[in-house]
Amino acid sequence: MIDMHMLPLVVALDCADASSALDFARRLDPRQCRLKVGKELFTTAGPALVEALQALGFEIFLDLKFHDIPNTVAGAVRAAAALGVWMVNVHASGGPRMLAAAAEAVADRSRRPLLVGVTVLTSMDASELRALGHKETPAERVLHLAALCAQAGLDGVVCSGEEASALRLQHAPDFLLVTPGIRLPGDTADDQRRVMTPRAAIAAGATYLVMGRSITGASDPLAALAAVRANLTGGS
Ligand code: C5P
Repeated sequence: MIDMHMLPLVVALDCADASSALDFARRLDPRQCRLKVGKELFTTAGPALVEALQALGFEIFLDLKFHDIPNTVAGAVRAAAALGVWMVNVHASGGPRMLAAAAEAVADRSRRPLLVGVTVLTSMDASELRALGHKETPAERVLHLAALCAQAGLDGVVCSGEEASALRLQHAPDFLLVTPGIRLPGDTADDQRRVMTPRAAIAAGATYLVMGRSITGASDPLAALAAVRANLTGGS
């Protein structure tokens, strides 16, 4: 019997065009997972695709990682809210005024998207942070940026599973920890550097898992979802 319960999972639809995204989405079940639309797909297919995915019943995480001056980011977040997306994100390194402007832009809406701040990309490791001139370790920098997000009134952050337990100790239980860099046991890490299994990330305090290639690259995506469910419930 197929278990239809919603997983704490957002599938990254990192497809090149609208028709492949829609074909893939139709193979999934909106009662089981949410979908993430990122930069490549949104640049190609735009709001019309987001609306088409919503019409299929999916809640959408619009992963455009806005990073600009406060006024511009506020406008972009407001536009995402008007599109009716479930979640939207901004780069925490845009700074306190940009984060506050983003939060204020959607605060008075009756139905507003969840707003999360990207801390340190899960593809980055300590050497890349050093190359950017940052003295902090990835974990220190994630904690620092997450504190700025919380102070600005964001709903949570995007972080790797590796920082989730430290963040859980510092933030309220309802502060969202959205974790990409998730791999099933045996999967390749690809370009990700700070990876974890679904079960380990949730045990560390993650609220939502973002998974792309482990699901979109599977010959049977529903079987991959079942493998995520099995991993979460301790079956694998
Ligand atoms: O295929 P994979 O599971 O690595 O995909 C991860 C997804 O999460 C990609 O869409 C990537 O853009 C996104 N992401 C990430 N790291 C962040 C934020 C988003 O990998 N910090």
